[in-house]
Amino acid sequence: MSTESKTFGVKKPSFYIKIYGCQMNVYDSRMVASLFEWEGLEETDNPEDADIIVINTCSVREHAEQRALGRISDLQKLRREKPELVLVVIGCMAERLGDKIPGADFFIGPKSYDKLPEITRKIVKGKCQISNFQFPKGCIPYPNPGRGVTAFLPVMRGCNNFCSYCIVPYVRGNAVSRKPDDVLSELRYLREKGVKEITLLGQSVNEYNFGEISFPELLRMIDREALGIRIRFLTSHPACMSDNLIDAIAECDSVCENIHLPIQSGSDRILKMMERRYTVDGYRYWVQRLRERIKNIALTTDIMVGFPTETEEDFEETLKIVREVRFDFAYMFMYSERKGTKAALFLDDVLLGVKKERLERLIELQNSITREKNEELLGREVEILIEGESRRDNLPTGKTRTGKKIIVKMQNAKVGKYVNVYVESISGWTGIGRARKRKNKRG
Ligand code: SAH
Ligand code: SF4
Ligand code: F3S
Repeated sequence: MSTESKTFGVKKPSFYIKIYGCQMNVYDSRMVASLFEWEGLEETDNPEDADIIVINTCSVREHAEQRALGRISDLQKLRREKPELVLVVIGCMAERLGDKIPGADFFIGPKSYDKLPEITRKIVKGKCQISNFQFPKGCIPYPNPGRGVTAFLPVMRGCNNFCSYCIVPYVRGNAVSRKPDDVLSELRYLREKGVKEITLLGQSVNEYNFGEISFPELLRMIDREALGIRIRFLTSHPACMSDNLIDAIAECDSVCENIHLPIQSGSDRILKMMERRYTVDGYRYWVQRLRERIKNIALTTDIMVGFPTETEEDFEETLKIVREVRFDFAYMFMYSERKGTKAALFLDDVLLGVKKERLERLIELQNSITREKNEELLGREVEILIEGESRRDNLPTGKTRTGKKIIVKMQNAKVGKYVNVYVESISGWTGIGRARKRKNKRG
């Protein structure tokens, strides 16, 4: 990638960002990228070219930390060859371990992100002339979404739930909801940039609360300003569901028929130990309400296997609810002990081999359900937002409102356009179809 500056013909200093973890880390990485760009640096997709390398880390499972630590260790060779290279570790592992992580120059965890403008200056010092602009204290510009048509928008940060297995509240801090005006002004900014699909983010997004404004009200306010933009939101907590929220999804045209509602386990005993604050029956109730009120709603979930003391019977209850609910898609994990959480005090007594075997059985079951759910698209007309091109044939690809991937057999479909597609076949998990004249706007 060329890093020649158009104005001076000299190489602009550049930065490279590697992202691990969740959507919040993707957003935060755009925030850091925007700050660097503001200071005159350029983004590169080649770490060997970069003057600054940023690793955005995740602590949610041991494996996530190991991957980031492995990458940091691999970068030590480059650091020795290029002593002027600056290595910056941000994200949840930087919060948890800080400078206990070997081999980096800066460590910035999410609890210090309000200081990012000052820290960015320190990082770029000596690399380039820093701009004179001072951001007002605690104020960070909205991240530039780039050329993509989809973007994330956090409406709250942190989490107060302290599910017994989870490190997130410790590394991300207390739940803080953003001012509705601020959310709306970022939404307008994204709209002006040409963004067509916004995913609202929060660890427990349906717990959003700012003064009198709860999450359903916020959705309604957003819907009035969305004007042709699709709205999604992540992640909803089953203990914070309400009829008001279901009504808001049903009534707001911009809000997609799609909800991510992690169940975690199908055993009430395990859910209690996880401190999830709902029962399997409680979860069932909301699934039923959602499906009664919102036709064709897609339901996705997170499930964990091998939580301390999980027996074969507990696990079979998980399989049972998975068979019953028939999720459109699920993220499935093996429990991973996180130091400092309550569950770390429980004896992690499920053998690794048993955890692996349970995970495989669960994945096999869910994959067959996902396949069947996707096959329900056959012979239907759906609205998709064109997001890019298929790798194999360079055909336009996009997602339905329910989040299913579709390839369209047509030329010249512009990214950011809505197209109605008649689904003719399924390849793997992807629907393939032809464009139809747009009549209805739902699907
Ligand atoms: N705030 C979201 C997401 C949290 S992390 C929520 O409440 O669902 C995403 C998923 O990772 C969780 O839903 C859970 O299934 C999984 N997870 C969290 N901690 C874990 C741990 N210690 N071991 C294994 N999986 C974990
Ligand atoms: Fe973790 Fe629970 Fe908060 Fe989700 S709701 S981030 S699982 S503590
Ligand atoms: Fe996200 Fe991982 Fe942190 S899931 S909030 S990046 S611990």
